[in-house]
Amino acid sequence: MIDFDEKSVTDAFFDQIKGTPNKRLLQIMRAAIRHLHSFAREVDLTRDEWKAGINFLTAVGQQSSEDRQEFVLLSDTSGLSTLMNLLEDRRGDKGTNASILGPFYREDPPILELGDTVAKLKPGPEAVMYGTIKDVRGKPIPHALLDAWLADEKGLYDVQEHGPGVDDLRGRYRADENGRYWFRTTIPSGYSIPMDGPVGDLVRNTARDGMRPAHIHFRLMHQGFQDLVTAVYFKDQYIETDAAFGVLRKLVVEILPPSKDSPIPSLPRIPYDFTMIPSSAVRHPGPLGSAAA
Ligand code: BEZ
Ligand code: FE
Repeated sequence: MIDFDEKSVTDAFFDQIKGTPNKRLLQIMRAAIRHLHSFAREVDLTRDEWKAGINFLTAVGQQSSEDRQEFVLLSDTSGLSTLMNLLEDRRGDKGTNASILGPFYREDPPILELGDTVAKLKPGPEAVMYGTIKDVRGKPIPHALLDAWLADEKGLYDVQEHGPGVDDLRGRYRADENGRYWFRTTIPSGYSIPMDGPVGDLVRNTARDGMRPAHIHFRLMHQGFQDLVTAVYFKDQYIETDAAFGVLRKLVVEILPPSKDSPIPSLPRIPYDFTMIPSSAVRHPGPLGSAAA
């Protein structure tokens, strides 16, 4: 008999979907709706407030296009992208933590030689970043690929500074036979996430500035290993308040004075080793891996 109250409407939903053949979908839907309903009960959500929520989600969809994914920005600025990364990182074998991809990655970066600069168009104060790409036992991974991309000293990516079709501050390197990589780079600046859409409005309305600390993004690839999307972060004024929650302690680097032991001894240096995990590593069986809720 259809006679819902504030609580039984949740059970009625569970009852309707109980025949879902895909048990993982059933688990996700049960948990999602259980939390959504209890959120509405907890805050005593009004119909006008939910209408505002629907308008917000509609605007997020309408702001999204080929060049801009406002839902990803929402995920990043809610901490959900980082939560996904932390859940993915929770494997038997520990590798370098993942960090958010951001919207400025390109699948086809310029192919560069070890030691080349990523800053082709606007050389500024430089540093050399270098290290070894290893497996979880500490063994170097020869010839692993490493894509690097970063913003300039004004906090702008190439597409923002020059429009589409111009490559700068991005490149793909192949580590040497000992898994070593090194490249010249300018020192990036912190920057604002796109604040001109509904997510920007929400960030402002929740008393945040939308700033990310200076960082360099990386994607590492090698056969037999899981793709690693990560970033290293510099200690600037935004390091504790990253609007996209990408910073983890182990990803924070320092710019050290030049050293004769670095691959480019004349430059300030950023040493950093990456650890990739094998593609065979299985996800740690956490709460979401157990039986349906
Ligand atoms: C980025 O790191 O490139 C980024 C991440 C989230 C939102 C905007 C930009
Ligand atoms: Fe970025």
